[in-house]
Amino acid sequence: MPFFITLEGIEGSGKTTQLLRLQEHLRSLGRQVAVTREPGGCRIADVIRTLLLDPGNDSIAPHTELLLYSAARAQHVAEFIRPALKQGKIVLCDRFADATTVYQGAGRGLDMAQIESINRFASQELVPDLTVLLDYPVEEGLHRARTRNHCGNLESEGRFELESIDFHRRIRQGYLDLAAREERFRVIDALGGEDSVAKRIITAVDQFLTSRRSA
Ligand SMILES: Nc1ncnc2c1ncn2[C@@H]1O[C@H](COP(=O)(O)OP(=O)(O)O)[C@@H](O)[C@H]1O
Ligand SMILES: [Mg+2]
Repeated sequence: MPFFITLEGIEGSGKTTQLLRLQEHLRSLGRQVAVTREPGGCRIADVIRTLLLDPGNDSIAPHTELLLYSAARAQHVAEFIRPALKQGKIVLCDRFADATTVYQGAGRGLDMAQIESINRFASQELVPDLTVLLDYPVEEGLHRARTRNHCGNLESEGRFELESIDFHRRIRQGYLDLAAREERFRVIDALGGEDSVAKRIITAVDQFLTSRRSA
């Protein structure tokens, strides 16, 4: 059965690391898995991604930023995610519309109701079946992300790295507020070594898959 599973969390919470671990686990169960990320996941969205991640583009207005993320998502859903689900795959996505709700809403202060309406439009009503939220302290997350980026693996959103601690605290809290509202969320404690976090995620995902089998 196809499922759409997303990973969310602050910078440095371990999303990219854990997505690969989860992919390995699901493949070992014999599932067909497609792994992707936002912003990006297809050529047109990747072009938008380079615009969004460039720390030199610090003059992007919050409304422009919201629409660029949404435009990238619309293409990603149409060109990659929906077709993969149609082929019966489990799609694992590193960030999705919840990131827009939290970064542009809780972070930048744009109107939540408007963001949610734009999100529905951009995702063409596609909502994840399961969202794993990696909850991690902000200072430690930023430290990890900066260390990673300065090692040359600059895959994070450089412009967000420059934001204040307070901005990132609002992001962490925004995610926790969303998780409290939406049943599809599983909040995972992301403290500890890679293996122990992977075990927590795998337990939650296996429980979800079992519940869907017996539904
Ligand atoms: N559980 C962990 N313990 C120690 N280091 C970790 C752990 N998970 C990830 N890292 C390291 O922290 C950095 C950030 O992890 P990453 O997966 O890139 O986070 P995100 O994708 O959420 O920004 C990477 O250098 C990664 O190797
Ligand atoms: Mg990442």
